[in-house]
Amino acid sequence: MKGSNVFSNILPIQLLFILLCLFIASSSCLKIGETCSSNSTCDAGLSCQSCSANGNTRQRCTKIQPLSPTSKVKGLAFNKYSWLTTHNSFALTNAQSDTGSALIATKNQEDTVTSQLKNGVRGLMLDMYDFMNDIWLCHSFNGNCYNFTAFQPAIDVLKEIETFLAANPSEIVTIFIEDYVTSPQGLTKVFNASGLGIYWFPVSKMPKNGEDWPTVDEMVQQNQRLVVFTSKSSKEATEGIAYNWKYVVENQYGDDGMKAGSCPNRAESSPMNTKTISLVLQNYFPTNPNESGVCLDNSAPLISMTNTCYEAAGKRWPNFITVDFYQRSDGGGAPEAVDEANGHLTCGCDNIAYCRANATFGTCDVPPTAPPPPAAAASGGDSQTPSNIASLDSKPVQLWWLLGAISMMTLLL
Ligand SMILES: *[C@@H]1O[C@H](CO)[C@@H](O)[C@H](O)[C@H]1NC(C)=O
Ligand SMILES: *[C@@H]1O[C@H](CO)[C@@H](O)[C@H](O)[C@H]1NC(C)=O
Ligand SMILES: *[C@@H]1O[C@H](CO)[C@@H](O)[C@H](O)[C@H]1NC(C)=O
Ligand SMILES: *[C@@H]1O[C@H](CO)[C@@H](O)[C@H](O)[C@H]1NC(C)=O
Ligand SMILES: *[C@@H]1O[C@H](CO)[C@@H](O)[C@H](O)[C@H]1NC(C)=O
Repeated sequence: MKGSNVFSNILPIQLLFILLCLFIASSSCLKIGETCSSNSTCDAGLSCQSCSANGNTRQRCTKIQPLSPTSKVKGLAFNKYSWLTTHNSFALTNAQSDTGSALIATKNQEDTVTSQLKNGVRGLMLDMYDFMNDIWLCHSFNGNCYNFTAFQPAIDVLKEIETFLAANPSEIVTIFIEDYVTSPQGLTKVFNASGLGIYWFPVSKMPKNGEDWPTVDEMVQQNQRLVVFTSKSSKEATEGIAYNWKYVVENQYGDDGMKAGSCPNRAESSPMNTKTISLVLQNYFPTNPNESGVCLDNSAPLISMTNTCYEAAGKRWPNFITVDFYQRSDGGGAPEAVDEANGHLTCGCDNIAYCRANATFGTCDVPPTAPPPPAAAASGGDSQTPSNIASLDSKPVQLWWLLGAISMMTLLL
């Protein structure tokens, strides 16, 4: 009598557990490094991809979003965080030229600036040119834009950024302009017209002698959430647009910047260890974008170069980590490199995921070991454990194992 009551009480709970597990396992349970069949089977912030350049021919859940830099330690100076940055953010693989011409230009990213911002990209590199009585995003040569190298009018992308800043009142975005614009007030006009003018962070507030930047809280309160740098020094006096290398040290870009073990400054930049300049930007992408090889570049070699550049910059972690195809890697990728930099910068841990809220600097919650792969991952016939990436988030996995075990036991009862 009593027993059958218990049984009939347990049955719905047991069914619920099974359904939950099935749902979680089949729709959004797979962690970083686990084999997958589609993007939707991976946890939020991950995509399902292979990296054959690295011998990873099976698709695995791969990180495409960093943790929010301010998620663990809030209110620090702007230069105490690291921000994921895209090289040629506008040069998308599926782009057509708005001129209607065929587009003959290399491509560096896959998703729109809106999508990049949604994924946590906070630094954008944009090449701007005078073109057809307007300012265009172009990927060109000799400072001239042509129909066949023109992507789209700059205002379209600036409006995407405006929409993001308006909808996300505590986010800060940085734009690095490769500036070929010579028309008077050309940049000011297009920024004004896009509605971004109201978010402008003034040059006068940028530290000139290695001091800390204002805090992110202050920038948010003042609504000065757009930081813009230009590659043309004259624009600072004529339009109040900060000359990049007065405020940022930056390593060599392209193939010469990818030689393991060295992190020289690019020609326009002061030496990496110039401490009177408060921001450090790390480039890591080849001269010619390589869509099939980039997942390898964005993996262990990127992390290794981040450590090299940290030393070269006088033991300073990069504030901006800039890559091609930021979503591509063999597991953690550029988002992981940014998480690591933010761990070091904000809480003194190897990864921001290990920061403990309100703890003293250097108190870290490092997960002891990676959990075993769930049955769902092993059932594809691949018994390998996730390679070099330890799960950052072992507790939920263990919880689902526990629930699974309980439901199995209740089934067997
Ligand atoms: C995951 O999404 C990306 C970008 O939308 C796409 O390129 C890729 O093919 C998707 N992966 C799978 C396995 O569908
Ligand atoms: C470039 O594109 C514009 C807009 O489509 C067109 O009016 C113009 O004739 C084109 N110029 C050349 C040289 O093809
Ligand atoms: C841009 O907007 C500011 C503030 O509204 C205004 O003072 C300035 O004249 C504008 N500049 C141009 C070139 O339109
Ligand atoms: C692109 O990357 C692949 C895989 O690493 C490599 O085999 C190929 O040589 C690279 N292409 C270029 C042009 O560097
Ligand atoms: C950390 O400190 C803040 C402010 O004192 C407080 O609101 C928050 O609850 C604390 N968080 C934890 C996890 O203790």
